[in-house]
Amino acid sequence: MTFEEACTIIESAVVESKSRKELLLNLFKDLGVKRMAEIGVWEGDLSETILQNVDQIERYVLVDPWRNLPDWNKPLNKSNVEFESVRNTALTRVAPFKEKVVEIRATTKEANSKIDDASLDLIYVDGDHTLRGITIDLILLLPKIRRGGFICGDDFSKTIWQHTTKYAPTEVFPFALYFAEAHDLPIFTLPYNQFIIFNEPRGFEVIDHGGYGRLTPEDIYAPPRGRLAELLVRKTPGSVKRFIKQFMSR
Ligand SMILES: C[S@@+](CC[C@H](N)C(=O)[O-])C[C@H]1O[C@@H](n2cnc3c(N)ncnc32)[C@H](O)[C@@H]1O
Repeated sequence: MTFEEACTIIESAVVESKSRKELLLNLFKDLGVKRMAEIGVWEGDLSETILQNVDQIERYVLVDPWRNLPDWNKPLNKSNVEFESVRNTALTRVAPFKEKVVEIRATTKEANSKIDDASLDLIYVDGDHTLRGITIDLILLLPKIRRGGFICGDDFSKTIWQHTTKYAPTEVFPFALYFAEAHDLPIFTLPYNQFIIFNEPRGFEVIDHGGYGRLTPEDIYAPPRGRLAELLVRKTPGSVKRFIKQFMSR
């Protein structure tokens, strides 16, 4: 696929989609994804949706440790007992597609030696969204994608305080941009906190479908002021969040 073709497909998916799932389904279908991995599976909600709707998928690799991680300060870091049940839910959901599914019960770092280089068309990164997590994920996973494939992900949050200051900051944004720049790859920002990088080293370029270009350092890094502001920022849509932040910083 040429860069121009990828641009057209991604732009159409953005225009036609009204939710994160719809966007991902449109992208994966139209980009012709056949072999993919999802990093961070949780209860397999997205895995099931993709397997049910993207008929051309031949191999779907699930990577998740499904265990408590002592150094991961995020809301979904549950107990080992809870993770057993979360994994069971995921495996039940994907059971109808068992001939396509490969489970790797591991963190990205542990899974690294189990995925061959250039063996995948696309990886969806949705695991540990801290700076440490996204750094390890993008560095270890890019070689797993064939040339002309894609690496994309969730939680490309416009504020690093996605889960309030009680938890570790989410730094998928801006790290993924710097990663793409380091590798001379084009990156598309997308709605619904998504990004996608085209693994074709034709020069760094940002195609900003998600409205990240107008963000200020304050928007990205300033912690919400006070508990009320934190709660409001957490529960409200993006446009309202910006207004609240501006209001609270007056
Ligand atoms: C946000 S959930 C995934 C949601 C799922 N992709 C969906 O859309 O339904 C995050 C998952 O990442 C997993 N996780 C955390 N750290 C990880 C790591 N270092 N490598 C792989 N997965 C990780 C957690 O166990 C958790 O199940």
